Amino acid sequence: APTLNLAVIPGDGIGPEVIAEALKVLEATGVDAATTEFPFGAGHFLATGDILGDADLESLAPFDAILLGAIGGDPRDPRLAGGIIERGLLLKLRFAFDHYVNLRPTALFPGVASPLADPGTIDFVVVREGTEGPYVGNGGGIRVGTEHEIATEVSINTAFGAERVVRFAFAQAVARRNQLTLVHKTNVLTHAGSLWQRTVDRVALEFPAVEVGYQHIDAATIHLVTNPGRFDVIVTDNLFGDILTDLAAAISGGIGLAASGNINPDGTFPSMFEPVHGSAPDIAGQQRADPTAAILSVALLLSHLGEQNAAAKVTAAVEADLASRGATARSTAEVGSAIAAAVAQN
Ligand code: NAD
Ligand code: IPM
Ligand code: MN
Repeated sequence: APTLNLAVIPGDGIGPEVIAEALKVLEATGVDAATTEFPFGAGHFLATGDILGDADLESLAPFDAILLGAIGGDPRDPRLAGGIIERGLLLKLRFAFDHYVNLRPTALFPGVASPLADPGTIDFVVVREGTEGPYVGNGGGIRVGTEHEIATEVSINTAFGAERVVRFAFAQAVARRNQLTLVHKTNVLTHAGSLWQRTVDRVALEFPAVEVGYQHIDAATIHLVTNPGRFDVIVTDNLFGDILTDLAAAISGGIGLAASGNINPDGTFPSMFEPVHGSAPDIAGQQRADPTAAILSVALLLSHLGEQNAAAKVTAAVEADLASRGATARSTAEVGSAIAAAVAQN
């Protein structure tokens, strides 16, 4: 039997393009991994009417991990309205497999241009809560479509949910530079904010070495731009984490470099690794997508599954490739092949 059994969901748009390169690199590591492809995505839904059923979840559950490209179709297609693919596929996977940690590391690698004039050292990780908050779908509409419409989207925050992700974040801080920043909006979202702040304060007592800070989400966006070096570990809720991590990607070389892990730390369910970016319909099918985020997601996957050596090889090959990137544009496959070749040589 192979060492690793991986489920692969290439998805839509640039998803299959970047996943092809990620798999090249995985193969080049020499890790004994068997991959099984699943067709889920907007394209599959339009062709079959299926998004992701209980039987699909059962077939994914036994895998060691899932690698996902990106999902999402043409935003103007009325058949995809209401985020049915996002909720019915991506969020369904995160919720069903209890991916309560959405781990999004951000680093400005040597040689990579940042849009910031003086970025300094950027090396932090966002621990984004993955199963609660405004993402749970706890909302509704009254008198929809009338001028008296009322729409609600109620954020769910549980003591259990906040504590487990906050504990994970403190453990990250201990393994890194002993700094943790809670990002929220405690001055306005007082009920959820108070729960998060009290949770951090309580767990902090167990981690006296960790310096704990707090920033409101709006101020955090300022500091990410003016002095990103001040951050080590950021812990935040599902929606704030979504927004902050696109900004984090932008300041550290772009969305094409940002990798993530949807982690079930308990190991009850397979964790899922994916680029932070989406299906990018604007550049799909043109071999213009940067596969680096997908490749770095493979590194996160390997590291999560205990293949530290292989993970380090992939990261080193990516760093070398980034440091030597010139002005000439390369295709998605050219970038992937170059990184795979460097991995194979190590
Ligand atoms: P997006 O991330 O797909 O694209 C935003 C911008 O970044 C676009 O200009 C795109 O061309 C560019 N971009 C993205 N990835 C790139 C890459 N690897 N290389 C170079 N440029 C890249 O976000 P969007 O346009 O808001 O969403 C498009 C679709 O993707 C929507 O259906 C959305 O719901 C979905 N989405 C899916 C995921 C996911 O599967 N995890 C994440 C985000 C968005
Ligand atoms: C992401 C995406 C998803 C999210 C969407 C597509 C549901 O933006 O992975 O960052 O909001 O989490
Ligand atoms: Mn996002």
